[in-house]
Amino acid sequence: MVTSRGELSRSLIAFVVSFSLLAASVNGYPFTASGASDLSERDHKPFELKVWPVGASITWGQHSQSGNGYRKPLRDELVSDGWDVDMVGSKHNGNMTDDNVEGYPGYTIAKVEAAAMEALPKLPNKPNLVLINAGTNDCHLNLNITGAGDRMQKFIDTILKEKDMEKATIILSTLIPSNDKEVKAHRDAVNEQYRKLVTAMSKKGTAIRLAEMEKALSWPADYTVDGKADDTHPSDAGYAKMAKVWFEAIKGAYNDGVIKATGTVASPDTVTEVISVESTVVVGPNVEVEVEVVTETITVS
Ligand SMILES: *[C@@H]1O[C@H](CO)[C@@H](O)[C@H](O)[C@H]1NC(C)=O
Ligand SMILES: *[C@@H]1O[C@H](CO)[C@@H](O)[C@H](O)[C@H]1NC(C)=O
Repeated sequence: MVTSRGELSRSLIAFVVSFSLLAASVNGYPFTASGASDLSERDHKPFELKVWPVGASITWGQHSQSGNGYRKPLRDELVSDGWDVDMVGSKHNGNMTDDNVEGYPGYTIAKVEAAAMEALPKLPNKPNLVLINAGTNDCHLNLNITGAGDRMQKFIDTILKEKDMEKATIILSTLIPSNDKEVKAHRDAVNEQYRKLVTAMSKKGTAIRLAEMEKALSWPADYTVDGKADDTHPSDAGYAKMAKVWFEAIKGAYNDGVIKATGTVASPDTVTEVISVESTVVVGPNVEVEVEVVTETITVS
């Protein structure tokens, strides 16, 4: 029962608001995210890439002057190719926007797995694209080199068993050149195992592709900052070359229909709607309540 003007106004607002929410859910995805790119529809990709860069110091961006490593040049390329991109990861590094990363300097494959699998369930946005570069530290430590491919397979299998990750696409990077004695000695063996692993998993239907870094960078040219070359970590110019290889691998995977809009469905950006109602409501023979203007702002997130 309507007993006062105030209550009537409130219930009318509630009705209008719930109607608006219903309309939103019927349409499914009616809101255009603010800041949408001005690329033509033809170029604009149909879903968001949620990219999870996983690995050790090279993923972290060590020795990168900006701290962005390969992530910013890759993100820029993807955006200009028409993708909406959200970098995901529990850590942050660099001076780029959207600076998430899952990079752990010094970590072996097994330790990257342990850290990444602790972080993954807590990520608010599950990735649909996982970029893995790990194994350089296994080489550096001469750690069971013949088992590196098996350890990588176990890591990938574990990622894909996680909730909302079943259909994520994996891009596995071969290890980049290095001047470290142990890495030089073992890198070829690990890379050979990675290539075979990607071929085998891909044949079995796993959404996986290789990012072949073998010829992309050369030491010392791509590892030199201020005249000094790091044994293992590229300069920003070197990281940009890695980004190019990641980009081509992602593009190839997308063209093959491998990359899907899986994981957590992105919620639309916060939307503010202003509803205006002007109405006269008759609530009884002698009672007429005028609801002049009801303006309500709702936020759908
Ligand atoms: C990020 O760092 C690099 C290297 O120091 C610098 O050249 C660039 O201007 C910085 N960018 C921003 C946005 O601060
Ligand atoms: C090396 O890895 C292989 C394959 O995972 C495993 O069978 C083997 O036991 C490992 N060797 C050592 C010494 O840990």
